[in-house]
Amino acid sequence: MTTILKLGGSVITDKDEPETVDEDALAAAAEQIGEFVAEGGEIVVVHGGGSFGHHHAAEHGVSRTDGSHDGAGLLAIHRAMGRLNDAVLDALAESGVDPLPVAPLAAGFRDADGNVRLADGSVRTMLEEGLVPVLNGDVIASAGEGGTIISGDTVVVALAASLDADRIGLCSTVPGVLDAQGDAIAEIDSFESVADVLGGSESTDVTGGMAGKVRSLLGLETPASIFDPESLGEFLDTGTAGTVVR
Ligand code: IPE
Repeated sequence: MTTILKLGGSVITDKDEPETVDEDALAAAAEQIGEFVAEGGEIVVVHGGGSFGHHHAAEHGVSRTDGSHDGAGLLAIHRAMGRLNDAVLDALAESGVDPLPVAPLAAGFRDADGNVRLADGSVRTMLEEGLVPVLNGDVIASAGEGGTIISGDTVVVALAASLDADRIGLCSTVPGVLDAQGDAIAEIDSFESVADVLGGSESTDVTGGMAGKVRSLLGLETPASIFDPESLGEFLDTGTAGTVVR
């Protein structure tokens, strides 16, 4: 039973202050992950960029689709994500688990069609050995583009399929996909059913984070939950929380 959990960058960092970890929020999440692992849970942790990744990416003009051949710029983005990754590893270790980093930059690439190929051998082996793999949004070598950004969400989707995950959770700052009244929609099984609240079927990851999330999660075999930090415990206990995308 494999769980993949993404901690959104806005959950574990202070988005308005460059390179600032939200220590309390990170410690709270790490503690719950620690309890889950102590009870025998098998989990892959993925985290986003928050105030570490995004401003470096913007500064160097790199996005998921617009690449760069400026090695120094790509390295600056990757290193900033490494600093946040260190903080996540420390918090998890503090909570009694045995985390190890798996950098997407080293484990994968984007092919000429823009598809991400992520080798999962190290993640699989770590799980078998009782270790907790920790991945993150990162820079990734991209055919024809130099380097581009791979978001934590894309890492989750790539791993979900190859690991045959049983549970997928995206912990962000909103309690789910919100309807017109601002309430979390319990279940989504088609993009059309939520296109109105997500801003139309043409919305992409670049313009609408939630639309992109929902679209890619709908393509997975495994149901995926989108929820806020208050519901992390519920997700870890029951396998679903917030909005469930099937
Ligand atoms: C961003 O990852 C990674 C970089 C900018 C290098 P995400 O797109 O998953 O980050 P959050 O969760 O939205 O902050």
